[in-house]
Amino acid sequence: MKTEIVFYGHAALGLTIGQHKLMVDPYFTGNSAAKVSARDVCADYILVTHGHGDHVGDAVDIAKRCGATCVANAEICRWLGAKGLKTHAQHIGGGFTYPFGYLKLTNALHGSLLPDGSDGGNPAGFLLTTPDGLKIYMAGDTGLFGDMRLIGEEGLAVAVLPIGDNYTMGPADALRAVKLLAPQAVIPIHYNTFPVIHQDVQAWKKQVEEETQSRVVILAPGESFLLEK
Ligand code: NI
Ligand code: MN
Repeated sequence: MKTEIVFYGHAALGLTIGQHKLMVDPYFTGNSAAKVSARDVCADYILVTHGHGDHVGDAVDIAKRCGATCVANAEICRWLGAKGLKTHAQHIGGGFTYPFGYLKLTNALHGSLLPDGSDGGNPAGFLLTTPDGLKIYMAGDTGLFGDMRLIGEEGLAVAVLPIGDNYTMGPADALRAVKLLAPQAVIPIHYNTFPVIHQDVQAWKKQVEEETQSRVVILAPGESFLLEK
């Protein structure tokens, strides 16, 4: 089964798992890093980590146009459901088996206010186990936390981590996160989109690969990573 991760810029991801298409935090409109617009993408499922505008992004428009089901915490799903969208609410620590795999919501240290000021509940990350058994951890916006070690115990093929600093982990804490998570590959995101999150990603790759067994996969917006089972 083909499992591919496309990076759209900032924190927006597209996943292809077999015939299933997912988007995570589909922020295109206003995303200076994005090379495509929200009109050009579609998905069966849209996953939203937390309520901030650079993560909810174009979820409403894309879900309406594509008939996608939105997956997020209960508060965000209530907000999306009130806009007429199909939703599947979960919450932190809970998992559910979808056609594309088993998705568990994980802890994240961050905020989650929705764009109109509504309460977006607690922010989350996602731990996805594909039908092939590949584990993909998408941390969402978060600071470093020691329980990443527990997530790492699951045996990760990939971790997608923010490294931008200011709003999330910076490079030093993201390196510590890699040590706790021990993924085979790590994809850095949430950097360089705005001046306050500018980072030297090549220097980070070098340091991570010197100090851990993990391979750093730097994706430019539009580039993708194919997972091998
Ligand atoms: Ni955020
Ligand atoms: Mn963010």
